Amino acid sequence: MRAGDVQADLSKVLYTEQQLRARIAEVARQIEADYTAEPPLLVGVLKGAVMIMADLSRELKFMPEMDWMAVSSYGAGTKSSGVVKILKDLDTDVMGRDVLIVEDIIDSGLTLSWLKENLLTRGAKSVKICTMLRKPEALKTDISVEYIGYDIPSEFVVGYGLDYAEKYRNLRDIAVLAPHVYEN
Ligand code: IMP
Ligand code: MG
Repeated sequence: MRAGDVQADLSKVLYTEQQLRARIAEVARQIEADYTAEPPLLVGVLKGAVMIMADLSRELKFMPEMDWMAVSSYGAGTKSSGVVKILKDLDTDVMGRDVLIVEDIIDSGLTLSWLKENLLTRGAKSVKICTMLRKPEALKTDISVEYIGYDIPSEFVVGYGLDYAEKYRNLRDIAVLAPHVYEN
């Protein structure tokens, strides 16, 4: 699905499919330069990271293993509480492994800071983070994010894996959702 197919629901397109692909190629070159001895284990966070995982992994010039986790943060509302429940755990033992977490977006950063700590506790040798998008709120948490697609303003965005009420994930572009969609 393209932005034009749901134009009335979007207030503006932030990044087109072509821009996202070009940026991911740049990020992939950084990752290749940093992991010269052995590829990291890519850990995608379901469901939002499906698109970036697919594009990033295919862009890389090495053969990383890939695994997935699904987590949900406890508590009501749209804000993360930082208390996280594992809905689907890894199949892989991370002991002694270099892990690269692949995410769609970092907002408060609370979910990721919990996840990073969790993987280190299991004995991962290193845990780094790659995210397609980062919101300004994330700068308040002292979580280091090694690979970032784009820093974006604090607006609710959809597409490229990101949803509103489980919709818009299959939009090829990343766009700001028009307020009338969630105000009704
Ligand atoms: P946090 O970093 O712990 O606050 O949680 C980030 C999660 O909130 C992401 O993985 C998304 O699921 C969700 N999220 C945050 N901002 C947006 C947005 O603009 N659009 C869609 N989902 C978002
Ligand atoms: Mg996510």
